[in-house]
Amino acid sequence: MDPIIAGNWKMNKDPAQSRSLVQNLLELIGDVKNREVILIPPFTSLPIVAEVIRNSNLKLGAQNMYWERSGAYTGEISGLFLKSLGCDYVVIGHSERRHIMGETDEMLNKKLKTALEIGLIAIFCVGETENEKEEGRTEQVISRQLRQGLKDIGNEAHKIIFAYEPVWAIGTGKTATPQQVVDVHKFIRAQLKKKSTILYGGSVKPENVDTLMHEQEIEGVLVGGASLKPESFARIIKFAGHLTSTVK
Ligand code: PGA
Repeated sequence: MDPIIAGNWKMNKDPAQSRSLVQNLLELIGDVKNREVILIPPFTSLPIVAEVIRNSNLKLGAQNMYWERSGAYTGEISGLFLKSLGCDYVVIGHSERRHIMGETDEMLNKKLKTALEIGLIAIFCVGETENEKEEGRTEQVISRQLRQGLKDIGNEAHKIIFAYEPVWAIGTGKTATPQQVVDVHKFIRAQLKKKSTILYGGSVKPENVDTLMHEQEIEGVLVGGASLKPESFARIIKFAGHLTSTVK
């Protein structure tokens, strides 16, 4: 599988700003090959981004979804609607959903099951907070997030993309060192029965992407802040790392 470069815009960019961001990005990157580039704008920008990337090989993802397919759930968004707008991917369990919106492992488990059932590829985020890290509980927290998040999913888990996103590294400018990331990725891999794709997220920038992507264990990155500027996201997409040698 090609390395994955996903840009999570969070609650930024209205539709007009989204259009210009993607147009500028496309001009900078041209026809990207050997990369799975995923744009993850806010819900309200999905149609416009879908339109701008129609003739490119960029992919579309959403930042969240509800676990029911339709019904009386005011303010929620069905994964089926996301599919009909052209999304292939959906982020599940981003730390901002867990910590600000109070989403639990149980809720995320339901969302993962629905995503699998309807054929959306989930990008499932796990990661420890600063306190949990200082208390030496990183592995304990991640193993709980995986065990409860993947409950009853069993053999299908390899269809999920995992993103290790240490909460202390998100939006803080503090990136985990490649060695810290590699250690946690190995731990995650050991918990999973089949081979899965594992990304890293947390203050990924043009300045550190090459070093991170140099590691075989890191199969892609989930980028927040640095995906909001076409120049920096384009540079991240064009990273030089272990997989560049396989570029055709
Ligand atoms: P950041 O966000 O790159 O701004 O740290 C990463 C994320 O939240 O996925």
